[in-house]
Amino acid sequence: MNLYNKNILSKVINLETVLWINEDKPNFNDISNTLALDYKDIEDASNRLDKFSPLIKKLFPETGDGIIESPLETGGILKQALENTYNLKINGDISVKCDSHLKVAGSIKARGGIYEVLKLAETIAIDEGLLDINDDYSKLAEPKFKELFSKYTVAVGSTGNLGLSIGIISSALAFNVDVHMSSDAKEWKKEKLRKRGVNVIEYDDDYTKAVAQGRKQCKNNKNCHFVDDENSKDLFLGYSVAALRLKKQLKEKEILVDEKHPLYVYLPCGVGGAPGGIAFGLKHVFGDNVHCYFVEPTEAPCMLLGLLTGKYDKSSIKDYGISGVTEADGLAVGSPSKLVSEIADKLLDGIYTTEDNELFKLLKILKDSENIKIEPSAASSLLGPNLIESNKNSHHICWLTGGLFLPDRLYEEMYRVGGR
Ligand SMILES: Cc1ncc(COP(=O)(O)O)c(C=O)c1O
Repeated sequence: MNLYNKNILSKVINLETVLWINEDKPNFNDISNTLALDYKDIEDASNRLDKFSPLIKKLFPETGDGIIESPLETGGILKQALENTYNLKINGDISVKCDSHLKVAGSIKARGGIYEVLKLAETIAIDEGLLDINDDYSKLAEPKFKELFSKYTVAVGSTGNLGLSIGIISSALAFNVDVHMSSDAKEWKKEKLRKRGVNVIEYDDDYTKAVAQGRKQCKNNKNCHFVDDENSKDLFLGYSVAALRLKKQLKEKEILVDEKHPLYVYLPCGVGGAPGGIAFGLKHVFGDNVHCYFVEPTEAPCMLLGLLTGKYDKSSIKDYGISGVTEADGLAVGSPSKLVSEIADKLLDGIYTTEDNELFKLLKILKDSENIKIEPSAASSLLGPNLIESNKNSHHICWLTGGLFLPDRLYEEMYRVGGR
């Protein structure tokens, strides 16, 4: 490990906030064909989601056209508020990507989770000879498919939001669903799932344990599908589709991305699947004109530790006595995904960490400036534009990753803490 990384590591272990720059990041063109997945895989996932839109429209009319996508909002007032609060000048403009308000599941985990379960339903229905790829997929809502899917169980380990995403789509299709929830998962998320008939299994242990239990449950049971947040390529590709849609949104808003107009994207990271999938998609769309940064809590910097030590998924915050306890419940993860660590090592521009107190402050700033409600995990992305050096032609995107379903009474308390 070089001196720079050593220095960052010792700060991470001391729970100090850091900004780590990935000094060894190669040019994207030089390594794009060495990665586990490629652009065709993203397109394939995007096309599959389009094919499912009539079904989504039927099951979740609130989506309108059956495409689960979030708005990109420009954040002029937010920029001013950040500059005033932190007493600095931010070069370039800021937008927020509102996955916090993604329909159906209310978080960034909606895209990947829903995609994986839809693909599973497609595979089962085709194998049974009940579906042809040229059919109108809205037929999957018919009773005979419900009867078919009810013979299968979908299992997942989660800190909360992936469980919500998997639980909501799986129960809508009539799969049985078991969500193994870590101790970090919030009670309201469990309650929401139980109301939909989802079997919530609680552990007084961390996320890694909850995932291991889900994996164990499905081992040797061909009618049980385990959604593997640590390794699933389908989840990863479901997330990556966001990049193709963001490209369109940027074009509609006439926001240029090229060598002279760099794009900076800040993505909250837990196990890494959601931010990793999105960063992977963005690099394929914008190459080295996009700069992706992950953000993690000082109490759960699993991806940063994995990349710094080179141990990836074999590293754990526990090895360094770091607690994993954070109000950013979606980011409370001890070890990163192997699939994502390998990719992130080559794509990321860096990772920064933040303390919980800062999250509440940022959550309040966003509400006061742009009137957007988010959960603490999502607030971590708002710190990015303050930290990263950019020029006046830059565009910053803070990826807001959750919040829609957060109960008002809990949100109001967080907002109050943010004002202290
Ligand atoms: C609100 C929120 N943001 C970010 C993430 C990070 O996603 P991942 O665990 O795939 O890195 C999560 C994960 O559950 C989340 O719930």
